[in-house]
Amino acid sequence: MTSFLTDITTLRERARAKMAEGPITDAYGADPKQVVEVLNEALATELVCVLRYKRHYFMADGIKGGSVAQEFLQHANEEMGHADSIAMRITQLQGEPNFDPSGIAQRSHAEYVEGNTLEEMIKEDLVAERIAIESYSEIIQWLGDKDPTTRRLMEDILGVEEEHADDLLNLLADLDEPGTY
Ligand SMILES: [Fe+2]
Ligand SMILES: [Fe+2]
Repeated sequence: MTSFLTDITTLRERARAKMAEGPITDAYGADPKQVVEVLNEALATELVCVLRYKRHYFMADGIKGGSVAQEFLQHANEEMGHADSIAMRITQLQGEPNFDPSGIAQRSHAEYVEGNTLEEMIKEDLVAERIAIESYSEIIQWLGDKDPTTRRLMEDILGVEEEHADDLLNLLADLDEPGTY
């Protein structure tokens, strides 16, 4: 038997005794309540990003920002996917995802800024992505090896936010070339 593993009898007893805790076992190294709290902030961040990108999508569409609008729409859908994955993880940790609209802007790391021109919209989205990238990186470092599943989830999301930021930077560069949109 491998020495670093708890003996089978103890493992089996623990699994049975704390069944109500679902996937949270003695090997879980973080405080689930704290992780849920942090994840609810990330959830609020994603929801604010969905709303901002949706607003930008419809507004850009109106000012003939065709390809920019499509990029905004794609980001909005991806942020919604992130929100869903985070909410799912919160329930796995026996917490409750907070979708209460009254506090979402306060809980969110990123801001909801409308912007009037395509350039303003892209810049605000880039700022929001950079905020998400920084706060998610900190969450990942904080989780360390205490909760590998949440960590992996946040790492996957971080990768997409980095892609988003890069897309936005490219859109900004394209804006300088006349006739692009
Ligand atoms: Fe996201
Ligand atoms: Fe993003």
